[in-house]
Amino acid sequence: MISISTTSRVETQKLAQKLATQLKAGDVLLLSGDLGSGKTTFTQGMAQSLNVRGTITSPTFVIARLHPSLTNGPALLHVDAYRLNSLAEIQDLDLVSDLSRAIVVVEWPREMMNDLSENPIKIDFSTDPIHENTRTITIDADSKIEKYLTS
Ligand SMILES: Nc1ncnc2c1ncn2[C@@H]1O[C@H](COP(=O)(O)OP(=O)(O)OP(=O)(O)O)[C@@H](O)[C@H]1O
Ligand SMILES: [Mg+2]
Repeated sequence: MISISTTSRVETQKLAQKLATQLKAGDVLLLSGDLGSGKTTFTQGMAQSLNVRGTITSPTFVIARLHPSLTNGPALLHVDAYRLNSLAEIQDLDLVSDLSRAIVVVEWPREMMNDLSENPIKIDFSTDPIHENTRTITIDADSKIEKYLTS
């Protein structure tokens, strides 16, 4: 587990871009943390690096949005699990025929999300009581990825 502090939106996106270079189809990221802590901002950075179509916004009124690759890479499936009752609901949306062909990012993951992957990357975002633009981002991933992110 590693913790990295950022002091701007752009810095958080750069960290996400760096992480995205280490990802492959089938990877699942579970993003937790308070409202406004940076989960969607982080996902935007990933989308830039993965070069996918569409704008990443807060999927408040939809459960999930698929962003296909503009090249030949994996798509990005951005899920807001807040209103999700079962994993089958994502599958039922039929956004992607095979979840293992996309990189799946879940905001507000819940217990059932652990079934999406045997080895999800867990990322927690926290705000700072004093510094308005500081976020502490704690990443629980393979040691290889953690080493890369701290190098
Ligand atoms: N260091 C930082 N990293 C990320 N965002 C920051 C940072 N500093 C300030 N911000 C601001 O904090 C807000 C983060 O909002 P964002 O929508 O990414 O949060 P969220 O965790 O997805 O919230 P929600 O739970 O509502 O989905 C943005 O307005 C962003 O500009
Ligand atoms: Mg969000």
